[in-house]
Amino acid sequence: VTTGIRLATVKDAAMLAALHAESFDPGEQWSAQVIGGQMALHGTFGLLWPNLGMLLARVAADEGEILTLGVDKARRRAGVGRALLQEALVRAAALGAEKMFLEVAITNEPALGLYRASGFERVGVRHAYYEDGTDALIMRLDLAAGAVDPSAA
Ligand SMILES: CC(C)(COP(=O)(O)OP(=O)(O)OC[C@H]1O[C@@H](n2cnc3c(N)ncnc32)[C@H](O)[C@@H]1OP(=O)(O)O)[C@@H](O)C(=O)NCCC(=O)NCCS
Repeated sequence: VTTGIRLATVKDAAMLAALHAESFDPGEQWSAQVIGGQMALHGTFGLLWPNLGMLLARVAADEGEILTLGVDKARRRAGVGRALLQEALVRAAALGAEKMFLEVAITNEPALGLYRASGFERVGVRHAYYEDGTDALIMRLDLAAGAVDPSAA
């Protein structure tokens, strides 16, 4: 699959924030300042498919984490989220991650569908993790198990 995904820089923070705002409720949106600040942290990187989708992830030692992921509402279910996630897994593995983690609301069917389809498995639950009392699932993917397909990114 040919994608328009590229590594984001701090200069892309406004576009990343705009895509993020499109994907999350007002209370959960990350400003350009917050996103820029995250990207400046060691081990944190952003992926941008201009006008379509964004992702932030970080790697510390042998563990990686998907921090956030959002796709333009009008362009969902076309493989953009899957491509962003695959690219993030490849980059995280290259940075030394052997396993990836993420948190997702138990009610978020699209995201759960994407993560399960990408090989993530539930390893725990954080009760009432979100402000409205919704539980979060903790999911993990073992990158060493050959789950990463560079050709899919
Ligand atoms: C989750 C999200 C990023 C998925 O992006 P997307 O580009 O629409 O996803 P893709 O088209 O790549 O879908 C890949 C797979 O995920 C699953 N999936 C995606 N949307 C789904 C839905 N609405 N219901 C069930 N499964 C879904 C499917 O398995 C899909 O494969 P298929 O289309 O071949 O069946 C997008 O819905 C989004 O931005 N949601 C709001 C923000 C959010 O919740 N982010 C995650 C926070 S943890």
